[in-house]
Amino acid sequence: MSQRTLVLLKPDAVRRGLIGEIIGRIERKADWTITALELRKLDRATLEAHYAEHVGRPFYEPLMEFMLSGPVAVLVVEGESVIAGVRALAGPTDPIAAAPGSIRGDFGTIVRENLIHASDSEESAEREIKIFYPGLA
Ligand code: PPS
Repeated sequence: MSQRTLVLLKPDAVRRGLIGEIIGRIERKADWTITALELRKLDRATLEAHYAEHVGRPFYEPLMEFMLSGPVAVLVVEGESVIAGVRALAGPTDPIAAAPGSIRGDFGTIVRENLIHASDSEESAEREIKIFYPGLA
Protein backbone atom coordinates (compact mmCIF):
# COMPACT_ATOMS: atom_id res chain seq x y z
CA MET A 1 0.00 0.00 0.00
CA SER A 2 1.47 3.36 -1.00
CA GLN A 3 1.70 5.77 1.93
CA ARG A 4 3.51 8.92 2.95
CA THR A 5 5.41 9.66 6.14
CA LEU A 6 7.01 12.64 7.88
CA VAL A 7 10.67 12.20 8.77
CA LEU A 8 12.81 14.53 10.89
CA LEU A 9 16.58 14.15 10.91
CA LYS A 10 17.30 15.57 14.34
CA PRO A 11 19.94 18.17 15.32
CA ASP A 12 22.48 15.46 16.24
CA ALA A 13 22.24 13.97 12.73
CA VAL A 14 22.78 17.40 11.15
CA ARG A 15 25.63 18.36 13.53
CA ARG A 16 27.42 15.05 13.00
CA GLY A 17 27.19 15.20 9.21
CA LEU A 18 24.99 12.10 9.02
CA ILE A 19 22.06 13.37 7.00
CA GLY A 20 23.58 12.27 3.67
CA GLU A 21 24.11 8.76 5.04
CA ILE A 22 20.57 8.56 6.43
CA ILE A 23 18.89 10.07 3.37
CA GLY A 24 20.93 7.64 1.24
CA ARG A 25 19.49 4.68 3.14
CA ILE A 26 15.97 5.99 2.54
CA GLU A 27 16.66 6.75 -1.13
CA ARG A 28 18.07 3.31 -1.83
CA LYS A 29 14.87 1.52 -0.82
CA ALA A 30 13.05 0.41 -3.96
CA ASP A 31 10.16 2.60 -5.05
CA TRP A 32 10.34 5.13 -2.23
CA THR A 33 10.47 8.79 -3.21
CA ILE A 34 11.46 11.87 -1.20
CA THR A 35 8.78 14.39 -2.12
CA ALA A 36 9.80 17.20 0.26
CA LEU A 37 13.12 18.02 1.89
CA GLU A 38 14.22 21.15 3.74
CA LEU A 39 16.74 22.06 6.42
CA ARG A 40 14.99 24.21 9.02
CA LYS A 41 15.58 25.69 12.44
CA LEU A 42 12.29 24.80 14.11
CA ASP A 43 10.43 27.11 16.48
CA ARG A 44 8.83 26.13 19.77
CA ALA A 45 5.25 26.47 18.50
CA THR A 46 5.89 24.01 15.68
CA LEU A 47 7.48 21.52 18.06
CA GLU A 48 4.67 21.94 20.60
CA ALA A 49 2.19 21.00 17.87
CA HIS A 50 4.31 18.08 16.72
CA TYR A 51 4.91 16.64 20.21
CA ALA A 52 1.49 17.57 21.69
CA GLU A 53 0.77 13.99 22.75
CA HIS A 54 3.88 13.94 24.94
CA VAL A 55 3.18 17.07 27.04
CA GLY A 56 3.80 16.26 30.72
CA ARG A 57 6.03 13.25 30.06
CA PRO A 58 9.42 13.40 31.84
CA PHE A 59 11.29 13.50 28.53
CA TYR A 60 9.19 16.32 27.06
CA GLU A 61 11.33 19.32 28.06
CA PRO A 62 14.70 17.65 27.29
CA LEU A 63 13.27 16.59 23.94
CA MET A 64 12.05 20.12 23.16
CA GLU A 65 15.39 21.66 24.15
CA PHE A 66 17.26 19.18 22.04
CA MET A 67 15.02 19.71 19.00
CA LEU A 68 15.54 23.49 19.35
CA SER A 69 19.33 23.14 19.59
CA GLY A 70 20.05 23.25 15.86
CA PRO A 71 18.65 22.77 12.39
CA VAL A 72 16.60 19.71 11.49
CA ALA A 73 16.06 18.14 8.06
CA VAL A 74 12.33 17.80 7.41
CA LEU A 75 11.32 15.21 4.81
CA VAL A 76 8.19 13.70 3.36
CA VAL A 77 8.78 10.23 1.93
CA GLU A 78 6.24 8.38 -0.17
CA GLY A 79 6.02 4.75 -1.22
CA GLU A 80 5.05 1.19 -0.44
CA SER A 81 4.64 0.56 3.32
CA VAL A 82 6.87 3.56 4.00
CA ILE A 83 5.51 4.27 7.52
CA ALA A 84 6.60 0.95 9.03
CA GLY A 85 9.54 0.84 6.64
CA VAL A 86 11.25 4.03 7.79
CA ARG A 87 10.68 3.05 11.43
CA ALA A 88 12.32 -0.31 10.69
CA LEU A 89 15.29 1.48 9.11
CA ALA A 90 15.49 3.73 12.21
CA GLY A 91 15.32 0.97 14.84
CA PRO A 92 13.80 1.32 18.33
CA THR A 93 13.82 4.60 20.32
CA ASP A 94 16.75 3.60 22.54
CA PRO A 95 19.82 3.28 20.30
CA ILE A 96 21.44 0.79 22.67
CA ALA A 97 18.51 -1.56 22.05
CA ALA A 98 18.68 -0.97 18.30
CA ALA A 99 20.27 -3.65 16.13
CA PRO A 100 23.43 -2.87 14.16
CA GLY A 101 22.32 -2.17 10.60
CA SER A 102 19.59 0.20 11.74
CA ILE A 103 20.23 3.96 11.78
CA ARG A 104 20.02 4.24 15.56
CA GLY A 105 21.89 0.95 16.03
CA ASP A 106 24.75 2.09 13.82
CA PHE A 107 25.07 5.72 14.94
CA GLY A 108 23.29 6.32 18.27
CA THR A 109 24.17 5.85 21.91
CA ILE A 110 21.76 7.85 24.09
CA VAL A 111 17.96 8.04 23.86
CA ARG A 112 17.70 11.80 23.58
CA GLU A 113 20.05 11.96 20.60
CA ASN A 114 18.46 9.22 18.53
CA LEU A 115 18.94 10.88 15.16
CA ILE A 116 15.56 10.44 13.49
CA HIS A 117 11.81 10.79 13.96
CA ALA A 118 9.37 8.98 11.69
CA SER A 119 5.56 9.01 11.86
CA ASP A 120 4.11 5.94 13.59
CA SER A 121 0.76 5.61 11.74
CA GLU A 122 -1.15 6.97 8.76
CA GLU A 123 -3.09 9.25 11.09
CA SER A 124 0.12 10.65 12.64
CA ALA A 125 1.71 11.05 9.21
CA GLU A 126 -1.17 13.18 7.92
CA ARG A 127 -1.25 15.25 11.12
CA GLU A 128 2.52 15.83 11.06
CA ILE A 129 2.73 16.61 7.32
CA LYS A 130 0.06 19.28 7.89
CA ILE A 131 2.25 20.86 10.61
CA PHE A 132 5.48 20.94 8.61
CA TYR A 133 4.20 21.21 5.03
CA PRO A 134 0.70 22.68 5.12
CA GLY A 135 0.84 23.09 1.35
CA LEU A 136 1.07 19.32 0.90
CA ALA A 137 -1.90 18.50 3.13
S1 PPS B 1 6.01 6.48 23.58
O1 PPS B 1 5.79 6.28 25.00
O2 PPS B 1 6.13 5.20 22.84
O3 PPS B 1 5.03 7.40 22.98
O4 PPS B 1 7.40 7.21 23.53
P1 PPS B 1 8.50 7.09 22.42
O5 PPS B 1 7.88 6.96 21.07
O6 PPS B 1 9.48 6.07 22.82
O7 PPS B 1 9.15 8.51 22.56
C1 PPS B 1 8.41 9.66 22.23
C2 PPS B 1 9.38 10.72 21.74
O8 PPS B 1 10.22 11.14 22.81
C3 PPS B 1 11.57 10.88 22.52
N1 PPS B 1 12.22 10.47 23.77
C4 PPS B 1 13.15 11.20 24.40
N2 PPS B 1 13.69 12.37 24.11
C5 PPS B 1 14.61 12.86 24.98
N3 PPS B 1 14.99 12.24 26.10
C6 PPS B 1 14.47 11.04 26.44
N4 PPS B 1 14.84 10.44 27.57
C7 PPS B 1 13.48 10.47 25.57
N5 PPS B 1 12.73 9.34 25.58
C8 PPS B 1 11.97 9.36 24.48
C9 PPS B 1 11.56 9.80 21.47
O9 PPS B 1 12.73 9.83 20.67
C10 PPS B 1 10.32 10.20 20.68
O10 PPS B 1 10.60 11.29 19.82
P2 PPS B 1 10.52 11.11 18.25
O11 PPS B 1 10.86 12.45 17.69
O12 PPS B 1 9.16 10.67 17.93
O13 PPS B 1 11.60 10.11 17.94
